[in-house]
Amino acid sequence: MATLDRMPLSPEDMVDLERYPITDGATGADTFLTNCRATFEKTGLCALPNFIQSNALDVLATEANTLSDAAFFCKSSHNAYLTDDDATLGESDVRRRQEETYVGSVAYDLIPEDAALRRLYQWDPLRDFIGGVLGKDALHRFADPFGACSINVFRDGGEHGWHFDESEFTVTLMLQRPDEGGAFEYVPMIRGRADETEIVERVLDGDRSGVVQLPFTAGTLLIFGGNQTIHRVTRVSGDRPRLVPVLCYAEQAGVTNSPEVRQLFWGRAE
Ligand SMILES: [Fe+2]
Repeated sequence: MATLDRMPLSPEDMVDLERYPITDGATGADTFLTNCRATFEKTGLCALPNFIQSNALDVLATEANTLSDAAFFCKSSHNAYLTDDDATLGESDVRRRQEETYVGSVAYDLIPEDAALRRLYQWDPLRDFIGGVLGKDALHRFADPFGACSINVFRDGGEHGWHFDESEFTVTLMLQRPDEGGAFEYVPMIRGRADETEIVERVLDGDRSGVVQLPFTAGTLLIFGGNQTIHRVTRVSGDRPRLVPVLCYAEQAGVTNSPEVRQLFWGRAE
């Protein structure tokens, strides 16, 4: 029926709730959450393949493709710690090594009110499940008008160099695999280790020991502790962009990005 065809997908229809019982009181929900939490604690991430069901994945990917034209692109060089270059450090210091990043982002305010992605982001059971995996008593959706839930767009030549995130955790949804490249690679849980500097140097030198590659499977939800684990996205090539929404949450209500961060990622501060 035409009216049914036009009914928007609800988050309950998007998420494979049989495989992933994330809603409060669902059969097996407690055990599932406990397992996810343990995996996150042990490995620094929790990846849930086929979290989004295939029919909803089509809707979300089509939507993101349409919106990707509105992405703002930013090319930058940065060290692995995302700190400013410090000329007082020795030239061989790992903090002076520069990595390249070229990525676009569609700001949240450009995502229509009725978009499936927006409805998924605003769905409380997803927020509460993520909070549970992270071991947070309460989690709030980000209050930033651009960065709350944005879509990362890696088109031909796009890449994200090795780095640790500034934020404790990042939640992403793999929507569209590019023609080539765009692999998520990481070396788990090395921040603060006695040999951290040596490991980071080796990784930046291209040493593959300890590097884990997470296959890009469209429909995967990834909860990731990015400030403990160095990571990157390998260079993308081809016409088909890599599309990955980033869902942002904070432990306090009302958290936003600084005007500087907005200017950098979305090309405007207001
Ligand atoms: Fe990151």
